[in-house]
Amino acid sequence: MYNWYEGIRWLEREDAPLDCRERIRAAGGPLLAWYEKNRRPLPWRESRDPYRVWISEIMLQQTRVEAVKPYFARFMERVPDIRALAGIDEEALLKLWEGLGYYSRARNLKKAAAVLCSEYGGAMPASYEAIRALPGIGPYTAGAVASIAFGIPEPAVDGNVLRVLARLFADGEPVDKPPARKRYEELLREDLRRRAKEAADKKAQAFLGPGDYNQAWIELGAIVCLPAGRPLCGECPLEGICAARRAGNPERYPLRTPKKPRRTEDRCVFLIEWEDRAAIRRRAARGLLASLYEFPNIEGHPGPEEAVRELGLADGDVEEIAELPAATHVFSHVEWRMIGYRVRLRRPLPELFELVKKEEIFEKYPLPGAFAAYTNVLK
Ligand code: ADE
Repeated sequence: MYNWYEGIRWLEREDAPLDCRERIRAAGGPLLAWYEKNRRPLPWRESRDPYRVWISEIMLQQTRVEAVKPYFARFMERVPDIRALAGIDEEALLKLWEGLGYYSRARNLKKAAAVLCSEYGGAMPASYEAIRALPGIGPYTAGAVASIAFGIPEPAVDGNVLRVLARLFADGEPVDKPPARKRYEELLREDLRRRAKEAADKKAQAFLGPGDYNQAWIELGAIVCLPAGRPLCGECPLEGICAARRAGNPERYPLRTPKKPRRTEDRCVFLIEWEDRAAIRRRAARGLLASLYEFPNIEGHPGPEEAVRELGLADGDVEEIAELPAATHVFSHVEWRMIGYRVRLRRPLPELFELVKKEEIFEKYPLPGAFAAYTNVLK
């Protein structure tokens, strides 16, 4: 096995395995050359504008690239800069975020924009520490924004990078514990600084810069070193120095500590309609999907009569009741197993339900993706 290591053909000898630092150092040249050729042209890679980088990195945290693209385009159109973000009504912001999940990300964006306006004149500061101190920004996002937008040599270790490095090292420690992440960050930071220094001293001809360095690791995890046991090792520029590949079992990595199984919850969702209106209500200010809207729903899977009774309806209130398809929605800690009923009322019952025009449900009220199977029925 061989690989290109900073201009020399380089071979890992079986009797002299590399340590982690050497593997990272050896990886940089082939990785960056691969990235230059294979990077995807993504909308947030068109410029290094800190606002675009920041918003895209927050959206990408829990969401796939393909799913993010339309949200990102719409967000940039409606909320084009930091001042617009600081000024947007929270409900309108959550509506733009509808379907992306993890809604505290959107709330924190607005809070951070307010800080940027009051303390930094409406601009993102060019400092890792200052970025890291903003609401909703952890070490990963701070590293991504600092490196991509400002060329600051800080690492950005997301789930992709954890997986690539765990395989590169055949790491016997679980990666979902802070020590692994910290160790990886330190190794990358050291390599990044050495490269940045060499580039400044003009020793290296082509150092793409910290933003591309970080994105190259991320990109390799996203399109080659794939999760769930299907890495495309034949296409990987690091094949010749990957300890997991050499051991013949890259899918074994990354190791993870066993998680508690997700709790399941049975819910019964109601589409309650009268004329061109449907009932929605606001969720509690704390907990799952805090302060977002929902269709009235109850716990359990009751039959239609029992369900209507639990809603507080009398027989004479109901014009028609029909079953809706079942649906499931998986959150990080709980899975909803939903059944649904469509209930047409004979008269509005303002003491029981807030009935709003259906087009307002689509345009104005943030209704989480968990209810999409039922929202679609109204369309
Ligand atoms: N995932 C997280 N950050 C990313 C980026 N900058 N490009 C592609 N995928 C990503």
